[in-house]
Amino acid sequence: MDKEKPIVFAITAASGIIYGIKTLEFLLKEDYKVELIVSRNAYYIAKQELNLEMEHDSNNIKSNILSFINLFDKSENLKVFLNDELWADPASGSHQVSGMIIVPCSMATLAAVSAGFAESLITRAADVIIKERKNLVVVPRETPLSSIHLENMLKLSNLGVGIVPPIVGFYGKIQSIDDCINFAVGKILDACNIPNKLYKRWHI
Ligand SMILES: Cc1cc2nc3c(=O)[nH]c(=O)nc-3n(C[C@H](O)[C@H](O)[C@H](O)COP(=O)(O)O)c2cc1C
Repeated sequence: MDKEKPIVFAITAASGIIYGIKTLEFLLKEDYKVELIVSRNAYYIAKQELNLEMEHDSNNIKSNILSFINLFDKSENLKVFLNDELWADPASGSHQVSGMIIVPCSMATLAAVSAGFAESLITRAADVIIKERKNLVVVPRETPLSSIHLENMLKLSNLGVGIVPPIVGFYGKIQSIDDCINFAVGKILDACNIPNKLYKRWHI
């Protein structure tokens, strides 16, 4: 993935929202253009996992998601879409993007993408990336994994999708939770061919 065209970036409702936030922050800091879609359920997990202090309007999911995103970055390279905005740019193959990352990726979204069930902007955008044969990287988070999850991952892997679970390699001299997160984010960026020095690489 490169800086010429935007990267579609989806955050779904699996544990590990912090992986999504840290990857997003890295991309914006490095001047990548990002088209962000946050699922409704991801917003609730983010609020709980990150102990966020923000305005919450139980009748207005869009304002909730925007107040969540505004906590992190206000870059002009960032466009935000809602998951039910099926008419938004990433829904069409005629819209030029360099690829898509789903981090974290819930088993529900993984199943929908592997089945081609494109009824939300996230699943439609992923469907488009696959049909256009562009770079899709998913970061599935669940444990243990059932045969259903594994079959869905195998199906996507066989289509050339990068499957990058956030699993730490302890050769990276892990000392802290930040090190674990940076290791996972570094591997996600590696899978997207995005240069980074977020973790200690193996070298003798
Ligand atoms: C606290 C909490 C944690 C969850 N963690 C995960 C998880 O790690 N992985 C997963 O696949 N689903 C997880 N789920 C279930 C998903 O949130 C659920 O399947 C949801 O429908 C996914 O929505 P989305 O894919 O549209 O974001 C969790 C749900 C809750 C309430």
